[in-house]
Amino acid sequence: MIEQKNLAGSFTLPGTSLTVNRMGYGAMQLAGRDGNKLVWGPPRDVDAAIALLREAVASGVNHIDTSDYYGPHITNQIIRKALSPYPDDLVIVTKVSARRGEDGSWIPAMSREELTAAVHDNLRNLGLDVLDVVNLRSMLSVHAPAEGSLEAPMAVLAELQQKGLVRHIGLSNVTPSQIAEARRIAPIVCVQNQYNLAQRADDALIADLARDGIAYVPFFPLGGFSPLQSSSLSRVAERLGATPMQVALAWLLQRSPNILVIPGTSSIEHFRENLEAARLQIPAELVPDLDS
Ligand SMILES: NC(=O)c1ccc[n+]([C@@H]2O[C@H](COP(=O)([O-])OP(=O)(O)OC[C@H]3O[C@@H](n4cnc5c(N)ncnc54)[C@H](OP(=O)(O)O)[C@@H]3O)[C@@H](O)[C@H]2O)c1
Repeated sequence: MIEQKNLAGSFTLPGTSLTVNRMGYGAMQLAGRDGNKLVWGPPRDVDAAIALLREAVASGVNHIDTSDYYGPHITNQIIRKALSPYPDDLVIVTKVSARRGEDGSWIPAMSREELTAAVHDNLRNLGLDVLDVVNLRSMLSVHAPAEGSLEAPMAVLAELQQKGLVRHIGLSNVTPSQIAEARRIAPIVCVQNQYNLAQRADDALIADLARDGIAYVPFFPLGGFSPLQSSSLSRVAERLGATPMQVALAWLLQRSPNILVIPGTSSIEHFRENLEAARLQIPAELVPDLDS
């Protein structure tokens, strides 16, 4: 039997009955790779992916981040195969507003028709009647938040919410003014932007969201496709008898109580290692070394 871990305490998404452990799991790395096409096609070992997801849930992970454009479709289909019928406390957070080109590219798909189709794709491939949380992922720029109105796609998501297909709405790859604009249309329960030890542009935003009880879910918590590497990170890890990836995650969990982490991995060994970060305390005197 797999031991249920202490997963860094829990957090309730504002205005909802959804409470998740702060250590979650990001499913993007479960899809395969085809040459330069990342997050594309099936993984080399589907059974290993299924085993990882089952171990995650058995360990107490109840927050899984995904999208139907991972694979595309494949990651959601693996999640369904591994975990459906889903445990009552499992919160699956998905995202919409992109589609994949045949060359593996990530193409904006923010029209009414595309957003509606994406919600239905997620429902079908996850085998659900309603999605717990859907993040509107701004594609005004693919790689970083870019100013511009998100009113039209937000209004479509709010309609899908009113129709009962979406329980709660989050945002991704957004600026503070886009968050304010979206909150005038519907309640926002979480924000998912790029943030980690080396990418800290959202420091002020995290504090603002914390004041309003909104979750901040950093994507690329370990640095993404090229995991973080630095001598100070390695030095702190050595002092603590931990790995650099564990320190990177523990730092995020210590950074603010509204941060929920969703490290991604296709490896069960890395998954187990990452879970242990929930118990790692970084003493205050070592934090300046990480800040440097
Ligand atoms: N909203 C957005 O635009 C957006 C963008 C990107 C990602 N996301 C979400 O955020 C989640 C997390 O991001 P991510 O998976 O891209 O990046 P990440 O969590 O920062 O890092 C994943 C990378 O780190 C490696 N890794 C994981 N644990 C490790 C360990 N203990 N030791 C060494 N290497 C380790 C993984 O390789 P192995 O597979 O070999 O472990 C993979 O290459 C995704 O799964 C996805 O759900 C959202």
